[in-house]
Amino acid sequence: MRAGVHWEFCEAMSDRDPGLATNFAARRQEMARDAQRRMVELVAAKTTDSAPGPLPLHKGVYTDETRFAAEREHLFLGQPMVAGLSGDIPNPGDVLVFDAAGPSLLVMRGKDGQVRAFRNMCTHRGAKLIEEGEPFSTHLPRLVCPFHAWSFDPAGKLVGQPSKESFAGCDIGARNLLEVPCAEHLGLIFVRAGGGDPIDAAAHLGELAPVLEALELHRAEPVKKGILTAESNWKFALDTYSEGYHFAALHATTIGITHYNDIARVDRFGRHHRVGFPDKSYGALPDLPESEWPQVDYGGVHYLFPNTVIFFGSIEPGKFFTQLFRLFPDGVGKTRCHFAVYAPFGVESDEQKAMCEMAYDGTATVVQTEDYRVAANGYANLLTAPDDYHVVLGANENAVQAVHRHIAEAIGMPLD
Ligand code: FES
Ligand SMILES: [Fe+2]
Repeated sequence: MRAGVHWEFCEAMSDRDPGLATNFAARRQEMARDAQRRMVELVAAKTTDSAPGPLPLHKGVYTDETRFAAEREHLFLGQPMVAGLSGDIPNPGDVLVFDAAGPSLLVMRGKDGQVRAFRNMCTHRGAKLIEEGEPFSTHLPRLVCPFHAWSFDPAGKLVGQPSKESFAGCDIGARNLLEVPCAEHLGLIFVRAGGGDPIDAAAHLGELAPVLEALELHRAEPVKKGILTAESNWKFALDTYSEGYHFAALHATTIGITHYNDIARVDRFGRHHRVGFPDKSYGALPDLPESEWPQVDYGGVHYLFPNTVIFFGSIEPGKFFTQLFRLFPDGVGKTRCHFAVYAPFGVESDEQKAMCEMAYDGTATVVQTEDYRVAANGYANLLTAPDDYHVVLGANENAVQAVHRHIAEAIGMPLD
């Protein structure tokens, strides 16, 4: 089924579906041209966007259990986490499991088109309503508990209770599912897994919102999903997404051939950022007037604080794909990355679907066998490193520095 069908259930369609009012393809072209100008400057000057100086990080930033407990509490349970895209549950009755942040949660689209999130926990004796783990999703107009068959509708309401009279007179004898904050905005579904305040997704995205809006994530249709793992702290794995300083050495047979090493355009949007890496075709452009530059496709790494990366790109001109990486800890020294590739504007043909599958397979292999390999090896070293050992992020690892500073600020623990 095509993503975006649920918009039919919304009365104010133009409010919910920004694509009806705006030509996003034109906006992406403008963004691509702006990025191109900046990257031509960087390539001409053989430099990269940089921080004022290097940043040493004590090994404990990655290995310390107390710090990790604070991250779990303030980030994974406390911050809005991306549970998926709208197209993962396009229709009323669709449900996905989101268990990577901690508690097992169900994210469901109700008959009214609204997305809500609940503990995947029966209100009778706590059984899991859906026993599969992430990235499981399905269509279930009614959730039936596998233990004693209490049932719930997609809005979390208890709608069936065998031997109901046995629970009469008890104030918790007939509860609806326990709800946690959830918001759907610009095609992203956010959940605050630990409960607490409602999510203001627009405020959370801030200045990044117009950029993400142009990606039309509300139209994205999932093609392939899987899990990548690293025997490392989640931040060590995350650090690999936001710098191009490692392309030539670590990715010598892939992006190291096609792209410049250590040239990155970095745009910061509060705690979020965007990074672009020029490919080697940029080498010819500084000598040409802008009127002779080719029109390039928009693309780049979009980092959503604290753990999500959206890569929008094209395999060949005009053949786009959207990649979603969500990194979660399974303990201080284990990372689980939920990786998914989407057809950005819905699956249009078998050929395009195959291309998106290629974008999954090729990237999964590189990330798993190269980026996460060095993350695991480096992390193992940190565990036995001298007590005062620090890693150091160069000024050229500008965006990575920002990630660490913002995480430290959010958990209330300084970096040094
Ligand atoms: S635990 Fe769900 S019906 Fe009993
Ligand atoms: Fe990499």
